[in-house]
This record gives sequence, structure tokens and C-alpha cells, in this order.
Amino acid sequence: MHPSYAIINLSNLKRNFLNIRNKVKDKKIMAVVKAEAYGHGMVECAKYLESIGNKRPDYFSVAFPKEGEKLRKAEIKKPILVFEPFSKRQVHLLFKYNLIATIFNLEHLKILEWGLEKYYPNKISKPKIKIHIKVDTGMNRLGISEKNALDFILKVNQKKIFHIDGIYTHFACSDEKDKSFTFLQINKFKYILNELKKLNIDYGWAHAANSGAILDLPDSYFDMVRPGILLYGYYPSLETKHSIVLTPVMSLYSKVASVKKIIKGDTVSYGRKFTAKKSTKIISIPLGYADGVNRNLSNKIEVIIKEKKYKQVGTITMDRFMVDIKKDNIKVDDKVIMLGKVKNNYISAWDWSNALKTIPYEITCSIGNRIPRIYKS
Ligand SMILES: Cc1ncc(COP(=O)(O)O)c(C=O)c1O
Repeated sequence: MHPSYAIINLSNLKRNFLNIRNKVKDKKIMAVVKAEAYGHGMVECAKYLESIGNKRPDYFSVAFPKEGEKLRKAEIKKPILVFEPFSKRQVHLLFKYNLIATIFNLEHLKILEWGLEKYYPNKISKPKIKIHIKVDTGMNRLGISEKNALDFILKVNQKKIFHIDGIYTHFACSDEKDKSFTFLQINKFKYILNELKKLNIDYGWAHAANSGAILDLPDSYFDMVRPGILLYGYYPSLETKHSIVLTPVMSLYSKVASVKKIIKGDTVSYGRKFTAKKSTKIISIPLGYADGVNRNLSNKIEVIIKEKKYKQVGTITMDRFMVDIKKDNIKVDDKVIMLGKVKNNYISAWDWSNALKTIPYEITCSIGNRIPRIYKS
């Protein structure tokens, strides 16, 4: 086996998912599995979630059509929403793999109409194109601005080739303690839904809540919620309530590759950023920044070996980093816990993300392709 590996605990994934189910009660759940399920393995996580029985996710979502293709090739059956805009070159994937497109401007409609003519030239067999309309209520990333949303939706609704399966918005800061901006976004979204109701326009499922909103804002659930990071066992920030019990799904391990004695004054690794204050032993571990152990973590993280924490020292290199084990009796091939827990000792993606001033999302997403994922259920 590769000396470094990630264990993906699918039972934890299921438990996190069911805890979200309990929290949102009768609302639908769209499991966000884009970006390889935040580094956990998209196909494996989606397949497992789809296999858990009648509480399974109602929808899955991905960023790009190619990810949707991958899920369908793995025989995922549930509806799949693609978040990102698509080009003419990608549109065949939407049709071929029955993916739901996100649309928010007239260009998207044109591309879909063009695709329908190209791929279904025979008038009789033309399918309806399932779409979700994205409304921008303040994120200013993707979506039709809420001022133009009603006009746009009226236009879409007139075109009988489209089936509006859903309408959604995305929150900019639902994971912050101050929810005032999120309430503003909720109210803008509610206004649009109410206007559509008055006009008798069927907009399908309305959805908005990401992890922060699921934890803190039941008023944002509408018909469906879209958890991402909660599935993988992390809260989105340090400011939300812990209103759902979570267990991290990924743990990361390696093995000691070498042990070396150094003396007072010796330095370790590129740039000589660590100098031994006295004789000590330095081990190397075969994981580096190419695997997602960011170089800016140098001299800032710890690992666990035989239930004890040790400090990483010196600059993290592409394939390897070093750890000071003092005089302890640690040997080549001893197991190293990078992310995970043993007895009372625990290293979480938060330890790394705090050191990097980022969020656990980036940590799990960055664990590289060289690291095999081993699935345990
Ligand atoms: C449109 C959309 N919805 C939902 C999510 C899930 O967010 P989170 O992981 O914070 O739950 C994302 C993630 O980036 C997203 O882009």
C-alpha cells in the first residue's frame, strides 16, 4: 500500500447526513458532492448516500457537467443539478446524462435551445429541458440579479421547451454570527417567490440553505436544503451553532520513512528554518505540498505517533516533511496520524486551516490525487 492514505469513513458520512435529515425534517436535501465531494471522492460518497434507503438524498449537485457525467456513469440515479454556467461545447453532456442546468441569463436559454435542435432534430422526441433558475440576492457571483429576476422568469416560463424544476439563491455569509445580511437575502428571495405565486408560475423547488443556514436558520429552508461541508463532518465556521452533531469523514495517515540523529546547531530542510537547540531525532514522512500539506504549514502543525503529538519542523517540501521526535523510540514504518484521532489526542482540519487562515473546506479539497482514499463503512 502507498505509505500515505486517507480513510473515508462512510458510516460517518451517513450519520452526518441522517443528522441533517433529522434537523430539516420534511425538507428535501440536495447533497453537494462537487469537487470530488470536497476531496472525499465524489462517486463513492454519492453512491453510498444513494444506497442508504428511503432517507437518501433527493438531489445531488456538482459544479460542472463533467462531474455530472462521472456520477451518471457510476449509475447515480437521483436528479443532479449543475451549479456552474455551461458552454455550447458542454451542452450535450446536460442532455446525454440528464443533468439539470442552472440558468440565469438569456444566453443560457439560447445555448439550451440550440442544443435541443442539434441533439434532438426530430420534433416528436424532443424532451423538456429541466432547469433551475439562480437568483442573485447579494452574493454577486452567479445568478440573475433580483431586480431582473421576475422579467427573466416570465420569459423562461413562456418557452414551453423548459421545465422549471427549481429556483435558488446562495448565501454570502450564513456562517457568520451576524445574520442581518442573510435575512436580507432571505427576504429578497421570498419576495420573488411570492410574486411568482401571485402570477401562478410554478417554479418547482425553492432552495437556498447551505451549511451555515441549515445550522442556524430554519427560516431559510424553503423546499430543499443544500449541505456541503456538514456532510463531511465539519462546521462551516467557528461562529455557527453546533445544532447538528457531526463527525469528520476523512482521516489522513502516513508512515515514518526515515529516522536521523542531528546535533545542536544542525538545521532541517530548505531555507534552514529549523535549528536544533540540542541533539534530537528527526523523522521524515512521505507527504508534502504536492499532496495538500501546504508549505505555509511549515513549523506550525503536529502529527500523532503512538498516541503522542510531535511538532513538524523545517520547511515542508513537495513530497515530504520532517518531525522532531526528540529521544523517543520511533521506527521506520511506524504509523503517523496527520488528521484523525487516537484516545484523547486529535488533529482536525481546523488545526491546519487555522494555521493557514483558511477553512476546513480547503484542507479536505486539497488532499491530492496521489493519496489513495480507502473507503470504510
Ligand atoms: C451553490 C452552492 N450551494 C451549496 C453549497 C454548499 O455549501 P456548504 O459547503 O457551505 O454547505 C455550495 C458550496 O460551495 C454552493 O456553491
